[in-house]
Amino acid sequence: MSKLTQLLCLAELDQTQLKALLELALNIKQNPQDYQQALKGRSIALLFEKPSLRTRVSFDVGIYKLGGHSVYLDQQNGAMGVRESVEDFGSNLACWTDAIVARVYSQKTLVQLALSSKKPVINALSDLYHPCQALADLLTLKEQYGDLSKVHLAFVGDGNNVCHSLMLGAAIMGMDLTVVTPQGFGPDAHVLLKAQELAQHSGAKLTLSQHLSSAAGADAIYTDTWVSMGNKADPAQVQRIFAPYQINTAAMQRLAVKHFMHCLPAHRGQEVTSEVLDSEFSLALQQAENRMHAQNAVLVSLFS
Ligand code: CP
Ligand code: NVA
Repeated sequence: MSKLTQLLCLAELDQTQLKALLELALNIKQNPQDYQQALKGRSIALLFEKPSLRTRVSFDVGIYKLGGHSVYLDQQNGAMGVRESVEDFGSNLACWTDAIVARVYSQKTLVQLALSSKKPVINALSDLYHPCQALADLLTLKEQYGDLSKVHLAFVGDGNNVCHSLMLGAAIMGMDLTVVTPQGFGPDAHVLLKAQELAQHSGAKLTLSQHLSSAAGADAIYTDTWVSMGNKADPAQVQRIFAPYQINTAAMQRLAVKHFMHCLPAHRGQEVTSEVLDSEFSLALQQAENRMHAQNAVLVSLFS
């Protein structure tokens, strides 16, 4: 297996690498004591252009549990690229830190950081991808179902970052994925092409639809916010377009889906009702917990 050197997008991984990462994440979750020194002497920058609860805390606590040290940087000293260029930011950070975890508006910023710092960069969410989230989601499904190639997931909502990473993750692992979005909110054409190419190789079935009924019979149904961070869409218009895609108890029953998934934060009463989110079928908190284990597997792989 070739070594992990960064994680800007899940398409950087092949099936062997992704399987190994998930196995490692499970092992770290079950045997945390074996990894207490894994990041000894390492400092990792956590750079956030956007708000975060789960990603920030799970990286900070996770790095601590691996014996490393994290430095949190937000935009209080001005947006990145304003006081100095993104490249200067990256080359300076590389003088002191061993890796950069970054949540950014644009995927291009991650590439600039990676090139200028020459240190591993981990995507903590961008406009295009959320690979750490998808890793935690695959880990959660693996815990529930075992063999991912036998799982059918349905994603319902806006076809952006979280959806894109799930598409790539599913396609790499040979997992069936039905993506249901309103018209005009489908996934990016380039990401779709890449996912189709990977799916052809792995045997995954990737289906696109604009009808919630297409999610029928999936093992789990996954949704995300209707308005992503930085999206200035008119809330009333969003509500009107996305309302038929709400995941509520009636939809769960009608579609005969076993599990509900959400990356969180959830907007109760919009993309999901409290009844579903808080139900015994909801995996949302397991996904949140698994963020740390999945990310720790990435960190351990980078430095081992
Ligand atoms: N799911 C997720 O990335 O949550 P945060 O935005 O709180 O980090
Ligand atoms: N699509 C959402 C994910 C939040 C974790 C956003 O970008 O805001």
